[in-house]
Amino acid sequence: MPFELLSRSAVVCVAAILSSLAASKVVAETDEMHTRTNLLPKYRQECATCHIAYPPSMLPNASWQRILGNLSHHYGTDASLDADSVKQISTWLATNSGGGETSRVAPPEDRITRSAWFRDEHAEIPAAVWKRPTVRSASNCAACHTHADQGNFDEHFVRIPQ
Ligand code: HEC
Ligand code: HEC
Repeated sequence: MPFELLSRSAVVCVAAILSSLAASKVVAETDEMHTRTNLLPKYRQECATCHIAYPPSMLPNASWQRILGNLSHHYGTDASLDADSVKQISTWLATNSGGGETSRVAPPEDRITRSAWFRDEHAEIPAAVWKRPTVRSASNCAACHTHADQGNFDEHFVRIPQ
């Protein structure tokens, strides 16, 4: 094998090892997210009307508390709630929020969809797919994760709509 080819395949091989190491870290993190928490009925009732009930483990507590503290300006809409409901949801989210890597970094805008792990998991989806009318937004998990409403994001239940 000519030297140049040999060294190129060595580079490819190192790259493959590095990317599989990165992937196993992501797997460890998303495994934790696959642990389904029974949702607080109040949370399901108040936080799953406009979108799915996002799993509490997908954001750090700091992000959840910031979101609850500003529901009247909620990503361009008004999602205000009475103080008692906010308190119940806040206490529940505090005990069920993400640990490990997730707990250390609050993503930009406190969006799950801007977390490092989310970007890694969805890196192979072409930009045009996110813009399809059937998808509209990365926040619209249920467009592709057919069991998202049950907190199940297993790859076996992923169907990207046309
Ligand atoms: C009145 C409708 C409405 C209600 C009620 C509502 N939301 Fe939202 N939420 C939205 C909209 C709209 C967005 C932005 C979606 C987008 O960017 O596509 C959003 C986005 C979010 C995101 C960020 C998703 C991402 O992009 O990663 C989180 C987290 C969230 N909501 C949590 C909550 C919680 C917690 C509650 C209950 C206290 C709640 N929402 C109630 C409308 C609502
Ligand atoms: C445009 C379609 C699409 C949308 C919208 C989408 N995902 Fe995904 N998601 C995928 C695909 C494709 C994969 C990779 C599946 C695979 O590995 O084969 C994935 C993987 C994942 C994984 C890892 C699954 C595993 O078994 O390792 C998680 C967790 C996840 N998504 C969560 C979310 C959440 C939460 C939302 C919404 C905030 C979301 N996704 C929105 C398509 C989507």
